[in-house]
Amino acid sequence: MFSPNDTLGDIVARFPKAAEVFRKHGMDYCCGGQRPLSEAAAQQRVDADELLQEIQRLHRSVQQSATSEPDWSQRPLADLIDHVVQVHHAYLNTTLPVMGELVTKVLRVHGANHPALQAVHRLYHQLQADFEAHLIKEETQVFPLIARWEGAPDAVDVGMVTAAIRELEGEHDATGRLLRALRSVTHDYAIPDDACGTYYYVYTKLKELEEKTFTHVHLENNILFPRVYAYEPQR
Ligand SMILES: [Fe+2]
Ligand SMILES: [Fe+2]
Repeated sequence: MFSPNDTLGDIVARFPKAAEVFRKHGMDYCCGGQRPLSEAAAQQRVDADELLQEIQRLHRSVQQSATSEPDWSQRPLADLIDHVVQVHHAYLNTTLPVMGELVTKVLRVHGANHPALQAVHRLYHQLQADFEAHLIKEETQVFPLIARWEGAPDAVDVGMVTAAIRELEGEHDATGRLLRALRSVTHDYAIPDDACGTYYYVYTKLKELEEKTFTHVHLENNILFPRVYAYEPQR
């Protein structure tokens, strides 16, 4: 698929995610993109074969996840809602309370030496409380309303559905702001040298929570909700 004679620029053009690997190894694929991979690897003292394998592995995993994720723009909304609840809400329902306890524990143990943990504690518990209420609202009110409307569009006022969706979008924005604030107070989740295992675990899990939330909110904001809006004549 890729060879050591391919230039960095060529590899990134064919497979944009390869840029992550080059960035990780400090390789400039934009201005220095005309160099063959073998030459760029030698300059950075990286083994070219290992670098190629790393790119091939990433390529395979991207292809696998692309084929295993259904095309949600074509599936019934009820299926997408099921997926969001079974996968993303289930993850949050198990993760949020556990993380809440850990964030408090880390503050208790390390708060005196690491003042940023006070902000992490405050922001995280705000995020947790908001998220819990948001998931309940989606599962008990808005998602059933969307499913009812999808089953019988004439029997449900679509204006009511879109008004409920706009509220959720506002809540997603607030969640995004909290995640950005968490990133900022932790300096992109930089782990101090004297951090214990729990500290490390909390930051790693917060990063995971952020990533999964992006996927989750993407499915709602960019696929589920626009498909409802598409039916609203005045929009
Ligand atoms: Fe959700
Ligand atoms: Fe949501």
